[in-house]
Amino acid sequence: MVEHIHAIHSSGGKDLVLAAGRGHMELAEAVAAELGIELLPVSSYDFANTETYVRFGESIRGADLFVLQSHTAPVNQWLMEQLLLLDAAKRASAKRITAVTPFLAYARQDKKSRGREPISARLVCDLLKTAGANRLMSVDLHTAQIQGFFDGPLDHLLAMPILVDYVKTRVDLDNVAVVSPDAGRIRVAEQWANQLGRAPLAFVHKTRDVTQPNVSHANRIVGEVAGRECVLVDDLIDTGGTIAEAVKVILDSGAKSVIVVATHGVLSPPATDRLSKCGASEVVVTNTLPISAEQKWDGLTVLNIAPLLARAIKAIFEDGSVTSIFEGIY
Ligand code: R5P
Repeated sequence: MVEHIHAIHSSGGKDLVLAAGRGHMELAEAVAAELGIELLPVSSYDFANTETYVRFGESIRGADLFVLQSHTAPVNQWLMEQLLLLDAAKRASAKRITAVTPFLAYARQDKKSRGREPISARLVCDLLKTAGANRLMSVDLHTAQIQGFFDGPLDHLLAMPILVDYVKTRVDLDNVAVVSPDAGRIRVAEQWANQLGRAPLAFVHKTRDVTQPNVSHANRIVGEVAGRECVLVDDLIDTGGTIAEAVKVILDSGAKSVIVVATHGVLSPPATDRLSKCGASEVVVTNTLPISAEQKWDGLTVLNIAPLLARAIKAIFEDGSVTSIFEGIY
């Protein structure tokens, strides 16, 4: 008989249980494997009118439950599925519930740019809380202040250690420059520059048309990139417009090469087409979101975020420190 291990038991009588929505099962299974457990069985299906049904297949009473969902497209469906899982967990008496959203949907809508707009990132955090999440865990939030949108502990993980380790093997550290695709992300680029041995910093002066989604223009580079191997760092790549324009401006300014690094590969069309032709030597993302065979091309590298998620989940379960995982970055 095959023994299924759906929980890690602690001496204090707590059980760590991991359940997942259907957004990115490959990642959920990889995290479970890192933890040495199997995912909790969950029945999930959709009704003819697109409503979603979920049910946990085993008791979770008293469990320290982690509910993982990647908010990939169709975002609203997977967000709703996670809300239903959280509600089911609350009603099934899980002791503590952590929503794990490696990529938090709607995070870009974190303020009113114009009157009569919602603050959608705040609403999503409120929904997760109301549904049953006591805690929230996410990776590289679009802006750090989203931490304050969730009324409870939020573990903000950074993919930087994984990305930096890889990039160090791909560039000449004596001739590197870090470039931010817009002025708003300079703080993150600064952390990158420090990690790459106090590399020089530059940023792209970008303007965005707030009346149109996914439309921005890279105007010029502020900083010195001529002759340098540039590391262009962003939190996410959606349609690839921001990055493709930035790469062009950087190369036009005399850079030797550009490697693109982003935590979240949203890769909505036409990202694959744009990025494969943009002139970057390589595009590096993590697997916080699923990336299909059609979205991939030769110049794309996908790094595994599962060990980091598993380490943070274990630390939370054992009342250990999550901050210490990122020693030296903050
Ligand atoms: C913007 O603030 C974000 O950090 C990304 O640069 C942007 O959302 C990416 O979108 P796209 O790839 O569609 O240009």
